[in-house]
Amino acid sequence: MTQDPTSPGRRLMARLDEFAAFTDDPPKLTRLYLSEAHRRAAARYIAWARAIGLEARIDPAGNVVARYEGAQADAPALMIGSHIDTVRDAGRYDGNLGALAALAVVEELARRGERLDVAIEIVAFGDEEGVRFPKTMTGSRELAGLVQAGALDQRDAEGVVMRDALKAFGGDPDRLPSTRASGVAAFVELHIEQGPVLEAEGLSLGVVSAINGATRFDVAVSGMAGHAGAVPMNLRHDALAAAAEMILGVERRARAEDELVATVGRLDVEPGAVNVIPGLARFSIDIRAPRDERRRRAVADIAAALDAVAVRRGVALKLVQTHEASAYVCDARIVAGLTAAVEAIGQKPRLLPSGAGHDTMIMGQLCPAGMLFVRCKGGVSHNPLESITSEDCEIALAALMRFVRDFRAG
Ligand code: HGY
Ligand code: MN
Ligand code: MN
Repeated sequence: MTQDPTSPGRRLMARLDEFAAFTDDPPKLTRLYLSEAHRRAAARYIAWARAIGLEARIDPAGNVVARYEGAQADAPALMIGSHIDTVRDAGRYDGNLGALAALAVVEELARRGERLDVAIEIVAFGDEEGVRFPKTMTGSRELAGLVQAGALDQRDAEGVVMRDALKAFGGDPDRLPSTRASGVAAFVELHIEQGPVLEAEGLSLGVVSAINGATRFDVAVSGMAGHAGAVPMNLRHDALAAAAEMILGVERRARAEDELVATVGRLDVEPGAVNVIPGLARFSIDIRAPRDERRRRAVADIAAALDAVAVRRGVALKLVQTHEASAYVCDARIVAGLTAAVEAIGQKPRLLPSGAGHDTMIMGQLCPAGMLFVRCKGGVSHNPLESITSEDCEIALAALMRFVRDFRAG
C-alpha cells in the first residue's frame, strides 16, 4: 500500500480531518442540518469543487450539488455522494467519507481530463441524520421528489422553523416541495459499514444487498408531578417510572426476534427536580428490520405494550410517528457492478445488509441505487471513536473509481 502522502486515499483522509473541524459543538463533532457548521462545511466543499472547475451550488434543500460533464453534453448522470450532517458527538467518517470520496473521484477524472459516457453528479446531502428536525433524509427526499407534507413547518428544539432556517442557509423553501432530480441513471453511495462484519472477516469492502426499513416515534408520558416526600407510592402517577417500564418493554420485544432492533436514544424528564415526582417523560423510539412486514408487526406490538403500561399506571400516553422509511433492496445491476469493481481491484466482495439507514434507500425511489461499504474499526460509529485506515480508504476509493469508469447508463 502506498505511503505517498499525495495519494488520493491519503489526501481524502487529510480532507476528512480538515472537514471534522466544522462543528457546532467543539471539540465534539456535531454538524446539524442548516447550522453554522453545516454552512461552513458546505462552503468548503463548494470551494474544493470549484477549484477543479465544477459549478457547485447549494440546492433548494441545502445540499451541495455539482456536475462533471460526460463526453457528450446532456449525457445521463451517475450520481455519487453521501451526507455531511452528523449526529451529536459524531465520528468523522459517517457520511462525510462518501461525500468527499465523490469529490475525489471527480477530481481524479478532471486531473486526467477524462470524460466518460455518463456525467458524474456529486452530492453532499445536508440532512440524513434527522437530528435537528424530527423528519429525516430531507436532502435525498428532495432529489427523489419525496419531500413530506409539513416538512417545512417542523420546529427544532429551540423552536426554529425549518422553512426559516432553510431560507437563511441559502436554500429555497418555495421550490423544495416541487424539486425532483432528472436525468439520473443511478445513485451509488460509499459509506462506512457502521457494524462489525467486515472487520470480523478481515475484509476491506462490502457490497450492500439491502437496507433496513425504519420507523421512529416521539413518545410523551404524562403523569402527575408531586412532592417526593409526601405522596405515598400507591397513589403516584410517576411519568418517569412508567416510561422506564415502557422502555424496557421496547427492548424486550426487539430482543425476542432476530434482526429486529429497537432503540430509545433520547429521554427528557420534567420538571427534573430531585424532590419532585416526574410529571412528564418524553422519549424517542427507533425500530428497524430488514423486512417491512416484520417491522410493522413490531411497531404494533410495541404500541400495544406502551398503552397497557399507561392504563395500568394511570398515565396518559401520546405516540407520534416522526419518520418511516421502507426497507430498500439494492438494485441488482448496481450490486453486480459494485461486486465486479471490488473484484477488479483484487478485493474479495462481501454482500451484506445494512442495519443503518442511508440516503440510498430514498434515492432508490428515484433511480437504481446501491452502496459500497468500507470496514470501520470495531464496527463503531455514531461515536468519536469511529475510524478507518488510510489503506482501506485508498482501496474504497479505487473500487468506487473503477465502478464509475465501468458504469454504463442502462
Ligand atoms: O440512523 C441511521 O441509521 C443513520 O445513521 N441516519
Ligand atoms: Mn450515514
Ligand atoms: Mn449516521
